[in-house]
Amino acid sequence: MKLSAKKIEKHIKNLKVHSFDFVDSTNTVAKKMATAGEFSNTLVIAECQTAGKGRLGRTFLSEKGGLYFSLLLRPQISPEETLFITTAAAAAVCRAIESVSDKKCEIKWVNDVYISGKKVCGILTEGEFNADGTFNYAVLGVGINLFMPAGGFPADLPLAGAVFDKKFRKNRIKEKVLINFLDIFFSFFENLSEKKFIDEYQKRSLLDGRQISYEKDGRTITATVVKIDKNARLVVKNGEETVFLTTGEVQITEVENLFKDKK
Ligand code: BTN
Repeated sequence: MKLSAKKIEKHIKNLKVHSFDFVDSTNTVAKKMATAGEFSNTLVIAECQTAGKGRLGRTFLSEKGGLYFSLLLRPQISPEETLFITTAAAAAVCRAIESVSDKKCEIKWVNDVYISGKKVCGILTEGEFNADGTFNYAVLGVGINLFMPAGGFPADLPLAGAVFDKKFRKNRIKEKVLINFLDIFFSFFENLSEKKFIDEYQKRSLLDGRQISYEKDGRTITATVVKIDKNARLVVKNGEETVFLTTGEVQITEVENLFKDKK
């Protein structure tokens, strides 16, 4: 059963909620609403997605049991602050998940949430800018694997995991995670430039001290992660050189080490 839009609107002020059984992608729906002139603070939720989108053109498996939503925002922020929408959301997702479980969430820079070495949440922020570089709109899309899909995750997603193995009080838990997420996220978002989330985002970093690789100008570069800095950049050391990464994807070079404690 889909979540009740009314219940969520009752808890979060100034929010318009559209709840669906299924859509192609909540991000696509929210973007269409944005183009049609829908106001900021519009939330699109779906029980499942037939064409869930991940970063870098990937698909995002979106079966029943997950929590999939997109938040349409019209933020008054500078282009440099764009990254903070995703990073604030990642910190809020961690806290929301921990509010219903005793699991510890970690953040794989920049937009993934992990529990015990498995990815339980992905975030995809899409947007459209005005000619002066300000936002026309941003759509923050969040997919949380709250409950294990009926047949488990497919073999080609070896790092995918769920917060809970078994289904119980499914809608109550989904609702609670969503409401807590929105509460926390909006408390960060109202003064995004203050970066109230950054200490927590840094502390939850899964990558500190690990070997990673990333692509630059068509080459694969291997480096060691030093930390996430106060601007949510990933600071890596490549030999003697210190590099500050602001976007893009990094791979952990020895995935099996994800399941071990960090040095
Ligand atoms: C990633 O892991 O690469 C990001 C995944 C983002 C998935 C969410 S689910 C809700 C929203 N709608 C989409 O189509 N994608 C985002």
